[in-house]
Amino acid sequence: MNPPIGYADDPFGHLHDEDFEDRYAAPVFGAESSLFMGGRRTESLNGNWHFTLDLFDEGLRQKWYAYEPVAPEDWREPRDYDPWLGDEIPVPASWNLLRPEWFYFEGTGWYSRLLTIEPPKAGERVFLRIGAAANKARIFLNGEFLGIHYGASTPFCVELTDRIEPGPNRLMIGVNNARRRGGIPMRHMDWFNYGGLHRDVEIVRTPARFIRDLFAHLVPDGSFGRIALRAEIDGPDGGQGTVRFLVPELSINVEAPVHAGEAVCEAEVRPELWSPESPRLYDVIAEIDGDRVEDRVGFREIRVEGTRILLNGRDIFLKGISVHEDDFETGRVTSKADIERRFRHAKELGCNFLRLTHYPHHEDVPRLADEQGLLLWSEIPVYWAVEFDDPQTYADAQNQLRELIRRDRNRASVIIWSVGNENADTDLRLSFMSRLADAARAADPTRPVAAACLLDFKNLKIADRLTEYLDIIGINEYYGWYLPDFEDLVAIGRNSAPDKPVIITETGAGALAGRKGPQGALFTESQMADVYRRQLEVIATLDYVRGLTPWVLYDFRSERRQNPFQRGFNRKGLIAEDKATRKAAFQVLAAFYHGR
Ligand code: GCU
Repeated sequence: MNPPIGYADDPFGHLHDEDFEDRYAAPVFGAESSLFMGGRRTESLNGNWHFTLDLFDEGLRQKWYAYEPVAPEDWREPRDYDPWLGDEIPVPASWNLLRPEWFYFEGTGWYSRLLTIEPPKAGERVFLRIGAAANKARIFLNGEFLGIHYGASTPFCVELTDRIEPGPNRLMIGVNNARRRGGIPMRHMDWFNYGGLHRDVEIVRTPARFIRDLFAHLVPDGSFGRIALRAEIDGPDGGQGTVRFLVPELSINVEAPVHAGEAVCEAEVRPELWSPESPRLYDVIAEIDGDRVEDRVGFREIRVEGTRILLNGRDIFLKGISVHEDDFETGRVTSKADIERRFRHAKELGCNFLRLTHYPHHEDVPRLADEQGLLLWSEIPVYWAVEFDDPQTYADAQNQLRELIRRDRNRASVIIWSVGNENADTDLRLSFMSRLADAARAADPTRPVAAACLLDFKNLKIADRLTEYLDIIGINEYYGWYLPDFEDLVAIGRNSAPDKPVIITETGAGALAGRKGPQGALFTESQMADVYRRQLEVIATLDYVRGLTPWVLYDFRSERRQNPFQRGFNRKGLIAEDKATRKAAFQVLAAFYHGR
């Protein structure tokens, strides 16, 4: 037991300890800790947790996590903070919006609760699953540090099996949203740096030997007649036994032997293919010993051929829009109703495609998109300036990518993995992101890999060296907004001859909803609508452009946007932050999409 640092034995030492974080740097929870959740019963830990902000990381320095619950009248010495008393906040939530004085806070927020759950039965395992903790999270149970997770938007699991005690267990989570060198993202981004436990926190139980992962997909060989099923087994004798795979509506009921911790099966069947027009889903089940998981899977093939993107062998144009996971009321926390509204607005625009920027969105987004027939671009936040020469930074980026892919690779709606956004074309960045592209293909060979790249604005063409390593090229360009001369955009179109599909992943302009102003004045709705009109005229002439996701569906919070029209919001939304007030450009894009 690590006793808390008391005044008696070490009154000031911890104040001089600038290496205290080194004691809380390992083990790191990563993608290998993730748990396939389909069909599993969970015990929710959502609701009120004790909470405090801790600007000086005293909680780590003084080991607040080691305090036992003791009534103040029984304290033997003063406690700067008692994790088991005081304020409570809801989980999930972004702490920034809970109190005005917490709005811009960047640092550690301590979540604490007493956890009384059934101790694991013989042969049972117990895990804590955290849906998202921004931006890193340290887990403590009964005064012990269990490990740390990096990444604000992907789930991770912590095994508690041998640590859960009968009666109340002291669970503390130190969530830190401070931006940092070496982080993914690093210290400068154009979205609000919310902090908190933003998604569900729950307890999951499994048998001693269980199915850690299930991957089900159509074999992308152009036959549309083979499906592959793969189960990863964890536990004693992980290398033995058999897994039963079932897809009842396809008359698949197959036993596959487990070798080296995995069981695979391929079946010659012709499923009804999933598509936006016909989002057909099948029940897929896998069982081993006492464990059973299931998923609802759409079988489809997404492939690139020359400059074409083929969905189930048919050329498709991706009529999209970019969207942040941001809400005026709830910050980074979303809900099924919020996602449904997002999809309604996208469909009103005539979209078949959404670019989920710039980090993994809630797992309900692809699940609902599977049901409603929307296609998705999913991305990790390797964004702008990143320490491309730092091996730990690469490990963080690769782990977030793997966590995203393991979470969503059964989702038919996800058709593209993006390894980042708008990074300058340097040798270090090329090495870093080409390795990420390889890591994406290794984790999932069934989807194209992309990134949102910058143009060569000097020579006016697509010349980013990373495009050699991508299957689909994303291009962010703002002619009419940051770049005045549309003739340059026309020249770029003429000068570029990519041998693979291009998606215009960002273009647009800002406007304060309702601001009319003189013709051509920035931040007016008319100027924004004009930019859309001229952009769409040029884009429509480029036959290698096979999709676009203009920037952006809704105005969203961003600390760096502080002029009188922005006041803390990026105003490039087609709809204001109220997610109701449309700007004139909305109709311009809608007319373009509905007319295609
Ligand atoms: C960039 C960046 C976005 C940003 C946008 C803007 O392209 O990718 O994250 O919000 O420009 O300037 O509004």
